[in-house]
Amino acid sequence: MITFKGVTKVYERQGEKVKAVDHVNMKVEEGEICVLIGPSGCGKTTLLRMVNRLVPLSEGTIEVGGTEINSLDPIQLRRSIGYVIQQNGLFPNMTIEENINVVPKMIGWDVQKMKSRYQELMEMMGLDPEEYRKRFPWELSGGQQQRIGVARAMAADPPVMLMDEPFGALDPVIRDHLQNEFLRLQKHMKKTILFVSHDIDEAIRLGDKIAIFNKGSLMQFGTPDDILSNPRNEFVRDFIGTDREIKRLSLLTVKELLHKGKKLGRSQTIPHEVNRESVKLDTDLRTALSVLLASPTGEAAVVDHHNHPHGIISISDFQILTGVHPTKLQTIVR
Ligand SMILES: Nc1ncnc2c1ncn2[C@@H]1O[C@H](COP(=O)(O)OP(=O)(O)OP(=O)(O)O)[C@@H](O)[C@H]1O
Ligand SMILES: [Mg+2]
Repeated sequence: MITFKGVTKVYERQGEKVKAVDHVNMKVEEGEICVLIGPSGCGKTTLLRMVNRLVPLSEGTIEVGGTEINSLDPIQLRRSIGYVIQQNGLFPNMTIEENINVVPKMIGWDVQKMKSRYQELMEMMGLDPEEYRKRFPWELSGGQQQRIGVARAMAADPPVMLMDEPFGALDPVIRDHLQNEFLRLQKHMKKTILFVSHDIDEAIRLGDKIAIFNKGSLMQFGTPDDILSNPRNEFVRDFIGTDREIKRLSLLTVKELLHKGKKLGRSQTIPHEVNRESVKLDTDLRTALSVLLASPTGEAAVVDHHNHPHGIISISDFQILTGVHPTKLQTIVR
């Protein structure tokens, strides 16, 4: 758990004071991903760097796992927290393998253990361990360097991770792949993660919680669903954009829609016709909506993983759920 109480940072620049972080209070639970998001310069990096004491606090306290960070030895603290730096920050004079092994080496892992961890991490990042082992950071593309940065932060398996736009420089396909991989791993790892992003879709997808900042102040803290369904103020509403009903769909599954329909006395089980479009019970509703919009009948059968039929959904079900008229849904999704 990471607890922020009245956390404030004032930088001094040529006698001028800049309040980068302004009385932030929030609590990130053990094993959760909290995505920090907001416009450039709103204090996200500063907040991260206060957690591992790379930036000293001006006011307030931060506790990691119930212990106030100022009572810990900063070196010890940093070893227990993985940090992915915004501009990857690899050591230019070290090979890729040496970069990844920095912390394991410091804490005294044996050579064999480091070798197999290197192998495992590279495979996880979709990079060939042999091909990159002896290369230097400048011999890699920006996106590859960024993945090495993520691997390095994860190397010694720290319980807490600070990730500053780790997927920022990646092309959409690799980014999508790594987001999925990251969520899959997190199911088992259950690390406590502060993750900076500037992409609201990424925040909705990855965050158990989202913290939205503006000019150093926390505007709203909550689950993606909280924030999308009840943006607290004008700033948050503008930030998440006009299509929040549609964004919310990616948080719900077909199963939930079907359940809702049944409660309203609709969607009885209908035999699965051969030519009908179908969606799985665990398909997210944003994907399901695209299927429905492409379907000539505006309907789709709902099936489980054994292709057993569970019911039927149609575009009008989405109108009930989102309050958005089908013709408008069509224009938003396209
Ligand atoms: N070392 C520093 N000295 C003085 N001012 C600083 C320093 N570091 C950051 N700032 C200022 O503090 C504010 C917050 O900066 P920070 O880097 O935390 O923002 P950010 O949200 O991470 O932005 P970005 O999305 O562009 O990475 C900015 O106004 C920045 O200019
Ligand atoms: Mg930053």
